Amino acid sequence: STASVGSGTRKRDPNKPIVMGFAQVGAESNFRLANTRSVITAAKEAGIELIIENAEQSQKKQIEIIRRFIEQKVDVIAFSPKTETGWEEILQEAKDAGIPVILSDREVNVSDDTLWTAYIGSDMVDEGRRAARWMTEQLTEKDHYRIVELQGTEKSAPAVGRKKGFEEIIRQYNRFEIMESYYADYTFEQGKQKMGDALRKYGKQIDVVYAHNDDMALGAIKAIEEYGLSPGKDIIVISIDATRPAFQALVTGKLNVAVECNPLLGPQLMKAVKDLMEGKELPMKIITAEGLFTQETAKQELQYREF
Ligand code: AHR
Repeated sequence: STASVGSGTRKRDPNKPIVMGFAQVGAESNFRLANTRSVITAAKEAGIELIIENAEQSQKKQIEIIRRFIEQKVDVIAFSPKTETGWEEILQEAKDAGIPVILSDREVNVSDDTLWTAYIGSDMVDEGRRAARWMTEQLTEKDHYRIVELQGTEKSAPAVGRKKGFEEIIRQYNRFEIMESYYADYTFEQGKQKMGDALRKYGKQIDVVYAHNDDMALGAIKAIEEYGLSPGKDIIVISIDATRPAFQALVTGKLNVAVECNPLLGPQLMKAVKDLMEGKELPMKIITAEGLFTQETAKQELQYREF
């Protein structure tokens, strides 16, 4: 399906640069920092005037930022929604003002899909599936594997999707059990803290940590070491994003696998914005093709890693 600039879209002076407001969700992870850099660089290269603000992981702040963009009459708004829900009102305000909204790396769950124009980012459910497929292929010896799951931000699209895809696969086997699932907000600190809690509660019973991003996985690795166990060996560590620090952890054997989630969305976003401003139709979903890295493949790939 396709989306176009609704008939309510404001007329803009084609001789002036396109003005885009970008309401970034926060600075919670390496993915996020790389994403912010990518958006800033790509806007500069595309000659798009970018106003970028940081919501510091607060939905309230993100809504306030978007409202300011509407008041400033920017040409287009992009944002990475903190959670899936709670956007109807502000998206309606943008629509009423004739300002198209592009979702960057996280989707929303709203009843009316004409409230947003396009989504650019990953297939989060599939990332969860790929993490689980790797695990079910590798872990075949024991009758029972106990998993601790570190989810990202509660109700965020990647947390919901990555859990859903992972569970969809492990359900087909009877040797995998998610013994506990924690929200750790995609940060190193919370990943470390929640994994510490899990270790104090379950100790050596834990076979696997499924962390929804690298930062939480790296925090968990730290907690496992502090507990006196060997991450990557005593406890298998699975992660998503595959940023450079995760590659380093793969190379040192502390992380077992990293499913890629590519943050370098800037160029695609700018292309979409230009197309939209020229009146072209955009696909509703622009999905990034992504890989998976193991300890073996990470060694060769580390030198080329851009984020
Ligand atoms: O929306 C993408 C997710 O947000 C990344 O996987 C995570 O690192 C980030 O915080």
